[in-house]
Amino acid sequence: MADAVTSVSVVGISGSLRSASFNTGLLRAAAGVLPPGMALEVADISQVPLYNGDVEARGFPEAVLRLKERIREADALLFAVPEYNYSISGVLKNAIDWVSRPSSESPLDGKPIAIMGAGARLGTGRAQLHFRQVAVFTNMLPINKPELLVMGAVEKFDPRGNLIDESVRERLRELLGALARWVRRLRGEAG
Ligand SMILES: Cc1cc2nc3c(=O)[nH]c(=O)nc-3n(C[C@H](O)[C@H](O)[C@H](O)COP(=O)(O)O)c2cc1C
Repeated sequence: MADAVTSVSVVGISGSLRSASFNTGLLRAAAGVLPPGMALEVADISQVPLYNGDVEARGFPEAVLRLKERIREADALLFAVPEYNYSISGVLKNAIDWVSRPSSESPLDGKPIAIMGAGARLGTGRAQLHFRQVAVFTNMLPINKPELLVMGAVEKFDPRGNLIDESVRERLRELLGALARWVRRLRGEAG
């Protein structure tokens, strides 16, 4: 069955907690342009506490266990990465730090991912590069192209953080198509 489309489940993670976040809005928009066979659910990282090795030694918090499980079950992850002080946001790094522990049981290990971001003039380029550095040690497997850096986000989203720019929507569609192909390639499927 050369044309069979196998399913690809994706968990989306936004590095911004604000309700009108452009980055969370990008994830919502992604749900509207999924390629055939792909499903996307957005994970909530707002309840993940600050990483503390003493807390880890006593037992992982519920919110962390839930996030780890969702990531483990997903075929791929889609990260929406806001840029804070030329890097990724603390809440995103903190969530990654928790999920990566213990490294021998990290659900990030070998996980196919795509990275995108919406911001000001440089469209989160510096944050996305930093995120790729984090992906090296955690052994996530990012696609390199296409890139999705949404510049001038304030003009491309409405005040509630909903995407209103059709060219960004089209690039989002291309990114998701590339992620689906990447997952299927890693599975050893044709195409
Ligand atoms: C602490 C902080 C640092 C920021 N640093 C940068 C930065 O280095 N570069 C940039 O382009 N925007 C920076 N911004 C602006 C954010 O990228 C912008 O507020 C963006 O909309 C945040 O993403 P969100 O809309 O998903 O919440 C910063 C914002 C905050 C709150």
